[in-house]
Amino acid sequence: MRVLSGIQPTGRFHWGNYFGAIRQYIDLQHGNESYYFIADLHALTTIRQPDELRGLVWDAALDLLALGLDPNQATLYVQSDVPEVSELCWLLMSGAPMGLLERCHAYKDKKAKGLPADMGLFAYPVLMAADILAYDADAVPVGQDQVQHIEVCRDLAASFNHHYGEVFALPKPRVLDDSACVPGTDGEKMSKSYNNTIDIFEPPKKARKKIMRIPTDSRPMEEPKDPAGDPLVDLYRLFADADELAAMEALYRRGGFGYGEVKKTLAEAAETHFAEAHHRRADLAAHPERVKEILGDGAARARRKAGEVLRRAQQACGLNSSAT
Ligand code: ADP
Ligand code: TRP
Repeated sequence: MRVLSGIQPTGRFHWGNYFGAIRQYIDLQHGNESYYFIADLHALTTIRQPDELRGLVWDAALDLLALGLDPNQATLYVQSDVPEVSELCWLLMSGAPMGLLERCHAYKDKKAKGLPADMGLFAYPVLMAADILAYDADAVPVGQDQVQHIEVCRDLAASFNHHYGEVFALPKPRVLDDSACVPGTDGEKMSKSYNNTIDIFEPPKKARKKIMRIPTDSRPMEEPKDPAGDPLVDLYRLFADADELAAMEALYRRGGFGYGEVKKTLAEAAETHFAEAHHRRADLAAHPERVKEILGDGAARARRKAGEVLRRAQQACGLNSSAT
């Protein structure tokens, strides 16, 4: 199976991103041909400061590698390092019905709020289709919110194939299991838009402070409590093994503990879980030339594949005839 996914560098990765997406990408790199990229062209619709964008792209690369993305297993690259994708985007755009794109939620939601939208946001699903089709990807692991975009990709590919012959492979979404929705520090879904995140690579001291400030109820210590649906237990579940979790749940049911203790246990479990990744990240940050080489190799591999598909598409629609 050829697996492909992109991740937008619009903020530092948090626990929700890791357990809801990144960890699953990393699992899928084994036994599959996989392509993962940092979607900097997509991020241009939100990040307008060049230094900020450069920094976020670099951080995303370090984070993904530190968390276990293995360049010997998967191809990791930056989207804009593969210009073939933008060329393919134009071919797809030329046959993309306006009505189809008007129904896509990113653009529709912004318009509904009366906010000005730009062409980049409108064409966002077409660029995403080019991202996928350029690599003949079979499976695209994405969160539920992106499934509509994979449908658009399939529509665009099918209509191109119908018109010009069998050029593109039709991909399938592989919906990520985010059933264990990670709660943020306010108990709502963890999201950078809600300002309730704990980032994977923030200094442990800072993360600990955020954990200690998670609001809890004021029932007396001795009162037994139900662990189900408790945000501290839900967070602890991400890091604890079965025995550790059972012990925590038993403590809740028994009562006679303070939330401060639970928070400390949670902070320690998270630190242990990400300790190796923190080490790897520091090591990578101290050797930027290694990271540049990984991204350079990834881009070269990606360009070879995307170049093949682009030429196939160009020839099918009557372009690039001097090259034949
Ligand atoms: P944010 O909500 O912080 O902007 P994104 O929408 O960029 O995060 O998230 C990228 C992916 O990370 C999502 O498609 C989803 O799979 C996963 N994800 C994000 N937040 C959570 C969460 N709180 N719980 C589980 N998965 C999440
Ligand atoms: N739009 C996706 C997101 O916001 C990121 C993305 C860009 C992507 N291109 C892609 C995901 C291609 C999968 C395939 O999460």
